[in-house]
Amino acid sequence: MKNLQIILLAFIIVLFYNCSGDSAPAEDTNTNNPSNPSPNPDPAPTTKVTYTADIAGIMSGNCTSCHSDPPTQGAPQSLTSYTQVKNYVDLIIARVNSSTNPMPPTGQMPEDTRSLIQKWKDDGLLEN
Ligand code: HEC
Repeated sequence: MKNLQIILLAFIIVLFYNCSGDSAPAEDTNTNNPSNPSPNPDPAPTTKVTYTADIAGIMSGNCTSCHSDPPTQGAPQSLTSYTQVKNYVDLIIARVNSSTNPMPPTGQMPEDTRSLIQKWKDDGLLEN
């Protein structure tokens, strides 16, 4: 009877050891936990084009030497404020992309610069 108890006890010990031995590596490899928040849920946030951040600089660098306030060198319109540029945006987009009659008159600005003005309109002509 005592032998049976010892064998039973040994069996339980082996069983217990095996269980704890199995669970330990399972915890270590469980790194793909779906409850973990992703460190970067939106890797490509879209930034909207605004007058203050993007468009004002294009105007002062390429346009306001003539489209100043008041305009000079025969330019018909001042393009120095948000409201002026906003109200003129369709004519501006047409003229900066014109191959026969571009603005500035010296030639088309780079494609990136011109498409930024189009994106400004598509984003809703934001000031800031
Ligand atoms: C060297 C001076 C000069 C520069 C620089 C210049 N313009 Fe002009 N712009 C003019 C003149 C002169 C006219 C009028 C003659 C014409 O329409 O071609 C004009 C006309 C325009 C018109 C048409 C206005 C209307 O009522 O028909 C727009 C729009 C315009 N410019 C936008 C721009 C933009 C945007 C820039 C900068 C990317 C720019 N211009 C740079 C001289 C300039």
